[in-house]
Amino acid sequence: MVLSGEDKSNVKNFWGKIGDHGGEYGSEALERMFVSFATTKTYFPHYDMSHGSAQIKAHGQKIAQALTTAVDHLDDLPGALSDLSDLHAHKLRVDPVNFKLLSHCLQVTMANHHPADFTPAVHASMDKFLASVSTVLTSKYR
Ligand code: HEM
Repeated sequence: MVLSGEDKSNVKNFWGKIGDHGGEYGSEALERMFVSFATTKTYFPHYDMSHGSAQIKAHGQKIAQALTTAVDHLDDLPGALSDLSDLHAHKLRVDPVNFKLLSHCLQVTMANHHPADFTPAVHASMDKFLASVSTVLTSKYR
């Protein structure tokens, strides 16, 4: 997956519009994933799954921070996300299929909150961006 110059600027512009809502959107996307794709809950047996739980909120914030790091390092995602890649592939052993589910929920959440900005071109670029992040986070999975 190669992000073009236009993809990179679409991703940076759109992410800029999210401002300080990243944590909120990250938690919303997580909750959407847990509700819609219940098998994903098996990776989080230690979580309080009730709506708006402190753990889901904290984790949403971490996901948003990781995505901000990725947006800031679009030319070196493998380097910027190396530790997270080790964590997801080696320690957590998250099956790669799950990344499409979270990416989908992130996009539904972003589209829902920013309908005017989430144009077809932005959607395509964000989809490529999340697929690129997912490729890095699953690249060490065996
Ligand atoms: C865009 C994709 C993803 C990003 C950016 C992401 C990001 C993160 C971050 C930043 C952490 C915290 C690392 C730390 O505390 O040092 C984390 C932990 C974790 N991730 Fe992911 N993740 C992604 C996808 C997934 C998926 C698809 C699953 C499983 C369905 C998953 C399961 C987990 C679990 C179980 C933890 C540990 C949570 C805890 O114990 O609190 N992640 N992830």
